[in-house]
Amino acid sequence: MQCSFLEAVLRNHPAVPSQIPLPTLTMSSLASSAPATNPSMSTTPATPAAPIFDKGLGNTIAATTQMSFIDGGKGVLEYVGIDIDSLARYSTYEETVFLLWNTKLPDAAQLRALSSALQSEYEIPDAIYDMIRSFPTTAVPMHALRTLVSALGLHDVEADADGIEASKRKALRLVAKTPTLIANFDRHRSGKAFVRPNPSFDIATNFLWMLNGEKPTAAMARGLDVCLILHADHGLNASTFAARVTIATLSDLYSAMTTAVGTLKGPLHGGANEEVMIMLDEIGSMEKVEAFVQDKLERKELIMGFGHRVYKAYDPRATYLKTFAKQIATDTGNLKLFEMSQKIEEIVIAAKADKGIFPNVDFYSATTYHCLGIKTDLFTCMFAMSRMSGWCGHCIEQLEDNRLIRPQAKYTGPHGAAYVELSKR
Ligand code: ACO
Repeated sequence: MQCSFLEAVLRNHPAVPSQIPLPTLTMSSLASSAPATNPSMSTTPATPAAPIFDKGLGNTIAATTQMSFIDGGKGVLEYVGIDIDSLARYSTYEETVFLLWNTKLPDAAQLRALSSALQSEYEIPDAIYDMIRSFPTTAVPMHALRTLVSALGLHDVEADADGIEASKRKALRLVAKTPTLIANFDRHRSGKAFVRPNPSFDIATNFLWMLNGEKPTAAMARGLDVCLILHADHGLNASTFAARVTIATLSDLYSAMTTAVGTLKGPLHGGANEEVMIMLDEIGSMEKVEAFVQDKLERKELIMGFGHRVYKAYDPRATYLKTFAKQIATDTGNLKLFEMSQKIEEIVIAAKADKGIFPNVDFYSATTYHCLGIKTDLFTCMFAMSRMSGWCGHCIEQLEDNRLIRPQAKYTGPHGAAYVELSKR
């Protein structure tokens, strides 16, 4: 990013003490989606490069980013150059958000300022609580979240405010409020009273506080914090791309985040973590693992939580998560779940490593979320809660150097077909 994303937001935020020094901004102005020069003024028409057909866009670079770097062959993921394993071990979600939005680690005062600004935005309007009350208790949580993220825009007077600065303020609100939406939708469908956010807690602690109505242990909050760090950003994945496509039309950030939540929901993307847990439940015991997995492989069915469009080596997010999942499974009496997962991994790797199929981040996050007491159908919402920071960061990057995203389709239909009157068909 060309500018210091969060510092610009904090500069004007009421929760940030004025004595905190903030660096000078070097923000580029919002670029228009129109071309830099008017083609009609040119004497020689530009010859467009011949388009290439790249189904799934796996070989297409469609944007630049300074947030995350992936080497799928070597199994490397870095946020702003810092290895994901180090961040998972030593960072916090708030610090990671600062890193992604400012492309540098914060000092202590900057981290306090961000945390305080986020905390002051945890609460959602009363009208949104009323809206949650109106939802069917059978609603799929990702449907509820998509609707609620969109509804937040109805209550933000800046929802359609132009420009990068306003988008940054909206980004802060979206990251802060999403946990409140998810936790309180879950309480509503469980017949429990709403729990308002606690502005003295960090994001992970606050989420579990609202979800369960009691303060989590430090170990449980840390478990969630690690998952939030690992899911925060991941290059131009499907939901991030969808968000960038939406913001590139110069729509608003709430619309872009609604697009992203809808895209994440699919089982080939964020929905896979739920499918992993469903699979583990279906298998049920260690003795049944081998037959279950072999049967799926023979039928050429997908094993959820394995494979990745970019990683053809072990997903680096899964490396630390596996260690972490073992620890939390042991601590919470769920070791059987971890051992079943490990056995599935052994069988799939033995059969599919030559095709570059290894566990992805969703595989061990399923065990981790389960051990944190989070219901299976909330897993994808947890992913969205974390990725909200990456999506927003990408949208700001897109706005800083915008160009309408508009690929072409290869037409495979007929030409010159006759129009036949309805009565003659
Ligand atoms: N289980 C078994 N076989 C698999 C799996 C899997 N999970 N994933 C890929 N394969 C097989 C394919 O069938 C293919 O076999 P073939 O060569 O005999 O046809 C081969 O491995 C190569 O796979 P591709 O189809 O090229 O992989 P692609 O990049 O298109 O798909 C995807 C990646 C969609 C993630 C796929 O691996 C998948 O569906 N995985 C399961 C769902 C999942 O876990 N999604 C989460 C991804 S991570 C994320 O979004 C956070």
